[in-house]
This record gives sequence, structure tokens and C-alpha cells, in this order.
Amino acid sequence: MRELLSSAADELARAGCPSPRVDAEWLLAQVLGVTRTDLHANGDKALEPREERRFRELVARRARREPLAYVLGEWGFRRLTLQVDPRVLVPRPETEALVERCLELISELAEPRVLDVGVGSGAIALALADEHPGAFVVATDNSEGALAVAAENRMRAGLDERVELVEGELFAGQQGPFDLIVSNPPYVEADELDGLEPEVARYEPRAALVSTGVTEAIIGDARGRLAPGGALALETADGRSGAVAELLGRLGYEEVSIGQDLAGRERIVDGRAPR
Ligand SMILES: C[S@@+](CC[C@H](N)C(=O)[O-])C[C@H]1O[C@@H](n2cnc3c(N)ncnc32)[C@H](O)[C@@H]1O
Repeated sequence: MRELLSSAADELARAGCPSPRVDAEWLLAQVLGVTRTDLHANGDKALEPREERRFRELVARRARREPLAYVLGEWGFRRLTLQVDPRVLVPRPETEALVERCLELISELAEPRVLDVGVGSGAIALALADEHPGAFVVATDNSEGALAVAAENRMRAGLDERVELVEGELFAGQQGPFDLIVSNPPYVEADELDGLEPEVARYEPRAALVSTGVTEAIIGDARGRLAPGGALALETADGRSGAVAELLGRLGYEEVSIGQDLAGRERIVDGRAPR
């Protein structure tokens, strides 16, 4: 096992993967059905030929810079393990910070009604329903593939009763009123996409990444769907949060604030409709 791991880590390093050793450990742990910690306790173990073949297949996929999350087929987000594949964006740590902020914004409500625009894998919608036991979440997406993944994750999380998935553009006809509207919209500029790491540029869905004015469209139309005092919370591109906050202020949102991701970058903007 030790030798296999170190030759896999070398292969991934040559391919330019930023965390080759850890990635190799994740892949081997999945093949063996154990945790990464267990691997360290069993370094001398020999693998079955079938296990070794499977491991080499997964390493080869990762060496082509396929995101680790797609190769594993699942990814942790907040308290949930979500199924992920190329139909959905890989849920990010900054979005976990957005969920944290949303939970603060609805903390005083026993049964908040929430709308998540662009549900993807279900990350935000499912984490909010999971961590606020009284929340009811409607979540939209215009991608049939993404909604299929979100539905699978909703079932696995046991949240069928409190998360409704709706196919359609933006608000998909949902009028509210909602106590919280949240979105992690596509916000990469089209000409920046090719400059991003291969995992993102080559594998993640373009419609989930490239900005087509979704942020502005949501801001423009959210107010009429918010209850008095209801909150709008958005993830933004690095460097865009100031402009988004200013726009919210101009549109009459109150208590506008900018929040940071785990790396200290300003990536979350929220505000409340007047009470
Ligand atoms: C950046 S991903 C976010 C996915 C998930 N909420 C997350 O945070 O991991 C954006 C999602 O919005 C969806 N989307 C993009 N444009 C849309 C539109 N005009 N109407 C509805 N959904 C849209 C994409 O299909 C994608 O699933």
C-alpha cells in the first residue's frame, strides 16, 4: 500500500495536481472502503489485484485533472455528504460560509420560508433545511441534470418533506413571500474561464460558472418576493462584493453587509428588505 500510494502521489504531482499525496490517499481509502486515517494504520497491507486495478483507474482520472470530487463521486458539505458528478458544480468551502451567514439571518424565525436560486447539487438548500429544522426551502435550477442530482441528494438526506425542487429560469415563477432568498449564481467572466485550473475550466458545467447577468437579475427581482424584513444573501466573485453591496443599498435594502470566506476574502453580500 505504501509503495502504491507514493507512486500514485508522484504521478499526480507530475500531472500538476496541487495536493497529490492527499488525493492519492482519498482515492485509495475509497477503493478499500476505509477512512484516510485507517490507511496510516495499515501501510504494510497488500492490495487485492482487483483493488489495485480500481485504484489505478481512479488515479488516472485524477491525473487528467478531473476534480477529486467527481472521481470520488461524493463530497462533504457542512454536515452532509453530497453525490456530485459533472452535471453540478462541486460545492465549495466559501458556500459553506454563505450557509453559515444564512442561518444567522433566519435564526430568529421558527419556520422560515427560503428560496435558493440555482440549486446545483442541492448544497445550500439541503444544508439550510438540515441545520434549521423549521425551514422550508424552495430551490430552482434551469438545468434538468442538476435537479436530478439535487433530488438524489435530497432523498439521501431525508429532506423530501422540506425541500421542494422546481425547474425553470431564475425564480421559476415562485412569488413568495420568502424570509430569505439565497443564491450562489454563476459569476466567472467568460474570458477568465480558460485561465482557471483545468479541474474547473475543463470539467465543471459552464452554465454553473459563467456569468450571464444572473446576479443582477436576482437582485433586480428579489425585492418583490421578500417578506418585510426578509433577507437576500449572495455569493459573489472575489473583488465584486463592494459593487454588489452598493447595488443593494441603491435598491433600498437595509443592514447591507459584506462577509468573508474562510480565506478572509470578501465573498458574501446580504441585506434586508425594509420591515
Ligand atoms: C454556481 S452554481 C451553484 C450551485 C449550488 N447552489 C452550489 O452553491 O454549489 C449555479 C447554478 O445555477 C444554475 N443556473 C445558472 N443560470 C440559471 C438561471 N438563469 N436560472 C436558474 N438556474 C440557473 C446552474 O445550472 C447551476 O446549477
